[in-house]
Amino acid sequence: MKNLTLLSLLILLVACNKPVPAGMREIAVIPKPQTVSFYQGDFVLSHAATLKFDQSDIKIKETSDQFMEVVKIGQLPDKGRGTIEFKIDNQADIKPSGYLLTVRLNKITITAKEPAGLFYGVQSLRQLIPTDGSGKIPNLDMADFPAFGWRGLMLDCSRTFLPKEYVLKYIDRLAAIKMNVLHLHLTDDQGWRIEIKKYPALTQICSKFDPQYPGEVNGFYTQEDIREIVAYAAKNFITVVPEIEMPGHSTEIFAAYPQFSCTGKKSVVFPFFKGPDVTEDILCAGNDSVFTFMEDVLSEVITLFPSEYIHIGGDEAPKAAWKKCPECQDRIKKEGLKDEAELQSYFIRRMEKFINSKGRKLIGWDEILEGGLAENAAVMSWRGIQGGIQAAGQGHNVVMSPTSHCYFDYSYETTSTEKVYSYNPVPRELAGDKSKYILGAQANMWTHIARTEAAIDAQVFPRLYALAEVLWTNPASRNYPDLEKRISKLTRNENH
Ligand code: ACM
Ligand code: ZN
Repeated sequence: MKNLTLLSLLILLVACNKPVPAGMREIAVIPKPQTVSFYQGDFVLSHAATLKFDQSDIKIKETSDQFMEVVKIGQLPDKGRGTIEFKIDNQADIKPSGYLLTVRLNKITITAKEPAGLFYGVQSLRQLIPTDGSGKIPNLDMADFPAFGWRGLMLDCSRTFLPKEYVLKYIDRLAAIKMNVLHLHLTDDQGWRIEIKKYPALTQICSKFDPQYPGEVNGFYTQEDIREIVAYAAKNFITVVPEIEMPGHSTEIFAAYPQFSCTGKKSVVFPFFKGPDVTEDILCAGNDSVFTFMEDVLSEVITLFPSEYIHIGGDEAPKAAWKKCPECQDRIKKEGLKDEAELQSYFIRRMEKFINSKGRKLIGWDEILEGGLAENAAVMSWRGIQGGIQAAGQGHNVVMSPTSHCYFDYSYETTSTEKVYSYNPVPRELAGDKSKYILGAQANMWTHIARTEAAIDAQVFPRLYALAEVLWTNPASRNYPDLEKRISKLTRNENH
């Protein structure tokens, strides 16, 4: 009897190393892992699962705590077998942010070179947990790594203020699909959304719509809120990139500080985006106190956000007020600038010097190319891909977010999930060594049309699943019907 048990165990063990065709095993991991091989048999994950990892590394501890929380509350059997190990191995043949996940009868191992890789391995493992309560995870080898380093989503918290809890929920959603940048559009004509201690009126006045628009959602993040968001994002290996708009898209500032505009006129904060050309007033580029103000603001922003990049907007800056403003015209003359395009470039370069002096890098929308790109600036290409091609051609880093594929405020009729899925962030024009300047891409969710959480969610998902896969998975393994199948399976699974 004893021998028989031993024999059957031996047969089982041999069987577990026998590959089985992929079609026999259905898994729904998004983004699709680079390679997966399946074997016969399953690991049974239970509430009794034990975890082995290096307790001294706080990042690994946070990742394991997150996983154990899933194990605790997930629909799983009370008893199971085997252990789970999270391993950092500096010598392993694994790409940056990659991981190796092996599942066998008695053991799950996730190996990575750094904590980020372990975290991504855990996200895949979470998506492998079944919904039927069996806890059965198929035996497999998964070797995985991301195609791009910037896998982002921009949320516009200015047009519609997005409460902190909602932003935290988005961090969970991004982390689950291995996205790693959350860009917050914190200021615009429709409201200033971040507390700046030195200029309290920015939130006391500029975050509130004029009383003629009752019932609109107002609000701002306190510095404490921001710290909480940034810390929670860091636990989820997400960088929060703050955007402070300048020199255009800034009329909300003039509701409290009209002296910083070219006209000196006090504005009201209105909840509706009227189009880029309607809002003529702009920060005065001839007034040194404007630069002092922005440097003070950015000093506080830089203290709050540890991101390598600080976004200064730079898009759709209206030039009409600069043309009429004596101080701006004076600046053009004194600095030997050709025109208002070069004045915009002067503005951005001056801000870049400041940002660089704080050890950070400037990123802006592709209009910052006009009049000459600042020395170390990165470009976010939104009016198509030409700006990105031009910047990369000049050796500058680029994040792609063209309206054609990445504007999630657009309707699904215009930009279907399948269209997003067809996107390739590296344009043909940049084949070869220039392609290295394309850091990745991001979706932009502007909130001037969709203005409730449910409406915003419906714009973002399922399209974000498609973009997450574009940014992670080798294009050769992309298959849209297969993605649709995985989306429908995954969105029914509460464990991921
Ligand atoms: C933009 O959509 N104005 C960057
Ligand atoms: Zn001016």
